[in-house]
Amino acid sequence: MTQKFDNSTLQLEKVFSEAEDFLPINGTDYVELYVGNAKQAALYYMTAFGFQPMAYAGLETGIKDKASYVLQQGKIRLILTSPMSADHPINDHLRKHGDGVKYVALWVDDATKSWEETTKRGAVSEFEPKKVVDSNGEVVYSAIKTYGETVHIFVERKNYNGLFLPGYKTWNPEYQPKDMGLKYIDHMVGNVGWNEMNTWVDFYKRIMGFAQLVSFDDKDISTDYTALMSKVMTNGNGRIKFPINEPAEGKKKSQIEEYLDFYGGAGVQHIAVATDNIIETVTAMRDRGVEFLRVPATYYETVLDRVGTIDEDLKPLSELGILIDRDDEGYLLQIFTKPVCDRPTLFFEIIQRKGAKSFGKGNFKALFEAIEREQEVRGTL
Ligand code: FE2
Repeated sequence: MTQKFDNSTLQLEKVFSEAEDFLPINGTDYVELYVGNAKQAALYYMTAFGFQPMAYAGLETGIKDKASYVLQQGKIRLILTSPMSADHPINDHLRKHGDGVKYVALWVDDATKSWEETTKRGAVSEFEPKKVVDSNGEVVYSAIKTYGETVHIFVERKNYNGLFLPGYKTWNPEYQPKDMGLKYIDHMVGNVGWNEMNTWVDFYKRIMGFAQLVSFDDKDISTDYTALMSKVMTNGNGRIKFPINEPAEGKKKSQIEEYLDFYGGAGVQHIAVATDNIIETVTAMRDRGVEFLRVPATYYETVLDRVGTIDEDLKPLSELGILIDRDDEGYLLQIFTKPVCDRPTLFFEIIQRKGAKSFGKGNFKALFEAIEREQEVRGTL
């Protein structure tokens, strides 16, 4: 699996039928963020993103050292966790990185085998397989380290019938915000340091059995100032896609470098979430205070020359700032939020796929120029 692949699903199936998938993954189980104030962050993601309250763990459930709020929308589950005392190790993470993604949990049928197969191939263990039991059954967890201080937890829940995971109770507050049509995590992007992209591409290939989907290089993705390189890794069934970015040399500081400076190293750059109606979703999010990156109005003067006919009217897309791109299999609509923290680190992408399996390469130039305008204001260009 060292050759380059294009976007063809057929090719991907061929790759995975040739070799046994030693790490079958059913999907993303949850994403856990360490945040400074989980209670308030939960309200932000509920109000602004339309997540629903689902479960809670904290003092009231016998957890003394941290508080965790579980939110759900479609198949997406977010956990927001804050420490309860000065000496908790989560504080070290917060001091260094600010709010950010700590765990990308993957739903597997066998967490023990997942840990054995990956550590055997060189993964660094975060913790060994452990069984946690409550009155609703048992869950087996194991975990390995990935880039920066980010961790993959393998979650085996086939013998568990509870609401979420052991230790959590139902969280059913009076405030039940409206769903905004977010369905599932389409992809999650990691930013890694200079010359580290291939190390982590190799990690996902060799240790996790992923294949490379499509590659860009710095000639594809550069503006006058900013540049990056990116490779997309995917698991066997295509449900997990992890693009990996590294900075490339430009005239001025690239957005990836800015991220690395403020995050204090490698970490999750953005979480892309899918919707079936991006116009409705983005309208609702905008009305609830989510700020999106804007491209100049001139983008819409020529975009249809590039992407051809689309089902949607251009007017609402241009009013909201939604971007369009096309590949051999169809087109996609996408938009990026501004960073959701004070540090210019984590942001979200909203994406609606209409056949396209790629990631919006045709928009990168317009997008990066928009990011550069933001960097200029921040004084970090
Ligand atoms: Fe993306």
